[in-house]
Amino acid sequence: MASKPQPTTSNLLVAHHDPRSAAAEAYRALRTNIQFASPDHPIRTILATSTSAEDGKSTTIANLAITLAQAGQRTILVDCDLRRPSLHKLFGVSNEHGLTSLILDADAAATPPFQPTMEPNLVLLTSGPLPPNAAELLGSQRMQAAITALKGQADFLLLDTPPIIAVTDAAVLAPQVDGVLLVINAGHTRRDLARRAKALLEKVGANIIGVVMNNAPLERDYYKYYGQGEG
Ligand SMILES: Nc1ncnc2c1ncn2[C@@H]1O[C@H](COP(=O)(O)OP(=O)(O)OP(=O)(O)O)[C@@H](O)[C@H]1O
Ligand SMILES: [Mg+2]
Repeated sequence: MASKPQPTTSNLLVAHHDPRSAAAEAYRALRTNIQFASPDHPIRTILATSTSAEDGKSTTIANLAITLAQAGQRTILVDCDLRRPSLHKLFGVSNEHGLTSLILDADAAATPPFQPTMEPNLVLLTSGPLPPNAAELLGSQRMQAAITALKGQADFLLLDTPPIIAVTDAAVLAPQVDGVLLVINAGHTRRDLARRAKALLEKVGANIIGVVMNNAPLERDYYKYYGQGEG
């Protein structure tokens, strides 16, 4: 009997492809920090944004989602980048239906078009067909209702968004989540833009739970030491 073909997932998903790597260990450290960040008000909904394009927002939030799922947390990962969505590519699935279908179609809202992933505890809601009015859609009451409904269906709800300096989408969503991760592209992100991103997030009352340094050089000696004895 022919087995079901597995989707081709991107090598950027190191938490899945190479769980013993230093990078995967860094995502697990991020998971632990989030889980212990706020004992009285657990962080359950998280958004990733950054100052500019290609800083590593999608890679970061996708690997964090995988890592949470690997720890037994039921996780929903949503592509809220309705301009340059990429999670469907990272996970190698179709983007025919997704978040926009959920917002625009009342029937889809009852049964969100989740797609399974290689991690049993992780489902993906891709962006769906791109709308002409992304910010308006993300700021709509239907979107708010969708977030509330999705929160109720998982332990963790993770949102990927576009760069916050370029468009308002991330700022619109930020007050609706428990915590925001600001991804910094080491050696590339300009300090003044990082400050502006922080100010934009604070202005809307977002809770910045941390800064993730992507593309940072490995501290080789540290990881060598850490990996000793693991074969
Ligand atoms: N941790 C990483 N390791 C290796 N390559 C990376 C990493 N993070 C990002 N990249 C590279 O940078 C590209 C952009 O990453 P990603 O799509 O995660 O960024 P983004 O901030 O979501 O971009 P966009 O603004 O287009 O949404 C990837 O295709 C990959 O080539
Ligand atoms: Mg992205």
